[in-house]
Amino acid sequence: MSPGSPAEDAREPGAAGDRLAGALEPGLPWLGRRVVLGVCGGIAAYKSIQVARDLTLHGAAVDVVLTSAARRFVAPLAFEGVTGRGPLIDLFAVGGAALHVALGRDADCVCVAPATADFLARSASGRAGDLLGTVLTASDAPVVFAPAMNDRMFAHPRTRANLALLDAAPGHYRVGPATGRLAAGEGSGPGRMADPSAIVDAVGRAVHPCGTLSGARVLVTSGPTREPLDAVRFVGNRSSGKMGYALARAAWLRGAEVTLVTGPGVEAAPFGVDVVRVETALDMRDAVVEAVGDADVAVHAAAVGDFRPASPRKDKLKRESAGGEVAVRMVENPDIAAESATRMKPNAVSVGFALETTDLVERAAGKLAAKGFDLIVANPAGAPDAGFEADTNRVTILDREGRRKALPLMAKFTVAWEIFNAVEERLRGGVRV
Ligand code: C5P
Repeated sequence: MSPGSPAEDAREPGAAGDRLAGALEPGLPWLGRRVVLGVCGGIAAYKSIQVARDLTLHGAAVDVVLTSAARRFVAPLAFEGVTGRGPLIDLFAVGGAALHVALGRDADCVCVAPATADFLARSASGRAGDLLGTVLTASDAPVVFAPAMNDRMFAHPRTRANLALLDAAPGHYRVGPATGRLAAGEGSGPGRMADPSAIVDAVGRAVHPCGTLSGARVLVTSGPTREPLDAVRFVGNRSSGKMGYALARAAWLRGAEVTLVTGPGVEAAPFGVDVVRVETALDMRDAVVEAVGDADVAVHAAAVGDFRPASPRKDKLKRESAGGEVAVRMVENPDIAAESATRMKPNAVSVGFALETTDLVERAAGKLAAKGFDLIVANPAGAPDAGFEADTNRVTILDREGRRKALPLMAKFTVAWEIFNAVEERLRGGVRV
């Protein structure tokens, strides 16, 4: 990674663009980074246009290098349209004599997507017969590569050997391939290029300057719990899991090994994150107890049901047998966060959430002390643009030393980034909210 790139600005939330936008948020951690996107000749090359577009919308400067085979699948103009920069294709172009050295030297990351079987072979043996090969050999930036090929080619022993070499190469990060539908007429299997969003996140993790979360283990709880009433009904709440998803993604982008223990909610999981799916508070407790002893950071964003029906029926309660009304006796669930605090490593950081309709910040301060958190994030209940279900949140972060930081309305991902700024500060031994 080149020193001197505008890393400081890149880490400030909202340094560019609309912080309240949905999935694509310019800034963190791609802003101002120089990415060389190498595109090889495979049918998945059409998806690389999306990769180039999203990296650009996230604030990266993207130079696309197309191999000659790639130009048979996708036109250079398509990449120029989404990056605003002319793709590079020719090692021997007049005026381009030292282009490969400059591109490789100045890159914060070289991403190759799709990485074909032939590219893997060339790269594994350090070949530099085209522009992409020369850029790679002139660069010491991290390399993110996304293999894509037919499943039979992926299974071939030579491909496996080349992959093993690249997997073991320092600074090389593989994304995929995924299993799914291959080119027309080829059915499905392993070999499909990873989703563009996964590739974009892998680049984000590769270009993020190593913070204290690099190598740290982060546990995040997320979503609602469902407490069964009978065979088909449950008591739940309106938590969507969006805040926990954003937290897990942010921690992974900052270099952590992340476990997300989540109740039913958003379907997709952030790329790279180990996901444990649970239903009830008791299931969530078991999963958290198993992981929390190894965690350097635990963030309890789950909306855990405080009570559960004492005796859920095994069958479905029928209207005819209810006699006009149903009384359900509820018993208390364990407090997962409070129990976790007693099981964590000595210098680990524990973060809670408080969702309240009244006296939000005061009640949050009370919970911080009662449950042994280092930090607590107060977010309002009942607001259309914050708390449950919204894509944005308006929070106050409190620490155990009594400091408070009220943040404006921002995307949940940006809130997550701010929370980990505070967490990293504590891990470094400082205190700053
Ligand atoms: O008391 P309250 O439920 O508002 O506390 C919120 C915080 O406690 C959140 O961090 C939540 O994840 C955690 N919690 C928990 N187990 C419970 C209830 C809440 O871990 N049974």
